[in-house]
Amino acid sequence: MSESVPTVPTGIEGLDELMSGGFPKGRVILVLGGPGSGKTVLASQFLYKGLANYGENGIMVSLDEAKDHYFAEMMKFGWDFRKAEAEGKFGFLDATRLSRVAMLKEKMLKEESSSLRGKQLPIDKLIEELQTKIKELNAHRVVLDTLAQLFYRFLDPIERRTAGVDLIEALSDLGATVLVTTELSQLGLERKLMDEEFLAHGVIMMQTLYSGGTTTRGLQVEKMRGVSINNNLVPYTIDRTGIEIYPNMTLFRER
Ligand SMILES: Nc1ncnc2c1ncn2[C@@H]1O[C@H](COP(=O)(O)OP(=O)(O)OP(=O)(O)O)[C@@H](O)[C@H]1O
Ligand SMILES: [Mg+2]
Repeated sequence: MSESVPTVPTGIEGLDELMSGGFPKGRVILVLGGPGSGKTVLASQFLYKGLANYGENGIMVSLDEAKDHYFAEMMKFGWDFRKAEAEGKFGFLDATRLSRVAMLKEKMLKEESSSLRGKQLPIDKLIEELQTKIKELNAHRVVLDTLAQLFYRFLDPIERRTAGVDLIEALSDLGATVLVTTELSQLGLERKLMDEEFLAHGVIMMQTLYSGGTTTRGLQVEKMRGVSINNNLVPYTIDRTGIEIYPNMTLFRER
């Protein structure tokens, strides 16, 4: 690859090897995966390693879970985000109000909230809050978990596309390296690429493969602009230390 950009090591065992060093610095990376595939763990490990190994402060924007629950879940891996928060190194933005459940409640209260404008305002507000928090903490790593929650708000595909494009663009302008998780709509290479995949600078896919009664977890770096990658489908495991990726082993590839 001729073009080469500065990279940020994720600090995740095996992952940096697949990407000749790490994520392109200051860019937006999309992590796609099914339920339970480990998207939240991978994203959190990126934040934690940033704190522990590279002195990089981080921010988690969660549309999925509230702070106390998140902190408790992460302690199971030995990642003390509560302590990091107290030390001014980590920030947690609770954006669960933007989720589908919040939207339904909102909708029951006032019907006009289903208009595009009514839905976009909270997203703009979130970006503003995030910009403020990034400055306050001098954060270099940001995670948004998960875009899927946000998209449930938009049943109309054009509204959904506009929101997705706007959000990825706003995230690209933050100056931090941003990891965004989202749900995989269809497995396999024939799945339709989402607009977000074209817009993002990098795409990582995580999936569970079923074969002969056993399941294997497989990860693939699909693209990483400006970084030379190994795009084989490789196995990964999740245990109480987090995610481990095996870059030298290859799983079958669907063709
Ligand atoms: N301590 C642990 N040891 C082994 N596996 C674990 C441990 N903690 C979590 N897991 C595994 O991690 C997976 C959950 O990961 P995670 O919550 O990151 O998934 P996700 O992709 O974010 O899912 P969702 O779509 O539900 O948000 C589960 O499949 C679980 O088996
Ligand atoms: Mg999750």
